[in-house]
Amino acid sequence: MNIVILPDTSQIADLAATFYTDLLEKNPKAVLGLATGSSPVPTYKKLIELYERGEISFKDAKAFLLDEYVGLPADHPQTYITFIKKEFTDHVDFAEGAVQGPPGSADDPFKAAAEYEKELEKAGGIDLQMLGIGSDGHIAFNEPGGALSSVTHLQVLAEQTREDNARFFDDDLDRVPKFSLTQGLSTIMRAKKIILIAQGEGKAEAVAALVEGGVSARWQASILQYHNDVTVLLDEEAASKLQLADFYTYAWESEQELRGASN
Ligand code: F6R
Repeated sequence: MNIVILPDTSQIADLAATFYTDLLEKNPKAVLGLATGSSPVPTYKKLIELYERGEISFKDAKAFLLDEYVGLPADHPQTYITFIKKEFTDHVDFAEGAVQGPPGSADDPFKAAAEYEKELEKAGGIDLQMLGIGSDGHIAFNEPGGALSSVTHLQVLAEQTREDNARFFDDDLDRVPKFSLTQGLSTIMRAKKIILIAQGEGKAEAVAALVEGGVSARWQASILQYHNDVTVLLDEEAASKLQLADFYTYAWESEQELRGASN
């Protein structure tokens, strides 16, 4: 796991954006895995800027969302598909129909989950997956206690997650959905490359469990310790509970130097 600790959000976004430019330059037809929530928004803004300057194109790429609330009408402003269009995909050149998410308003969410998993397989899997992390350690909406080998499924949201997300629903907990459709941990682990962004003190405990804790169902993100291409981008607050923060910074900078010298 690469752990990169940077002083501010814009540096995190700049670095995260290079993962997209590098990938799409090599493989314009790449399949992107997109997270919603606030953590990746500055990166999406940066990608929009690069697109407007003609430095990146998504015209042959595909994108799949990690998760979706169940029970919101399809046109509700807080559905994740509406959110991603507004914050990112409608501002760049994805082809019509190239961006999809789990259908949270499907009549049979269990069947819809199985079908979404198949869609991902049909697309050849995710080349680059963006992740955030919940304060309870969830990635996508995989909440504590779930199977470490889960695939796309209906997930009951934890109280903590609903409280954290009430800010998107006028701070009214009763309006936050109780269920979601989410990619599972094993779905996420099949992505070829993963970047995870976390900012703020509220994520520090989950980040420490992800990077330095034991792999456990309690802290679902810890499964990423078994993936061989994960880069975790943190600000100093999110990194504040890491015991070996100095070493991670030293290791990252040393590796960048070596790569720079050999280019
Ligand atoms: C959203 C998602 C969630 C969020 C997490 C952090 O698609 O999968 O796991 O990444 O809840 O949310 P923010 O970034 O809003 O703190």
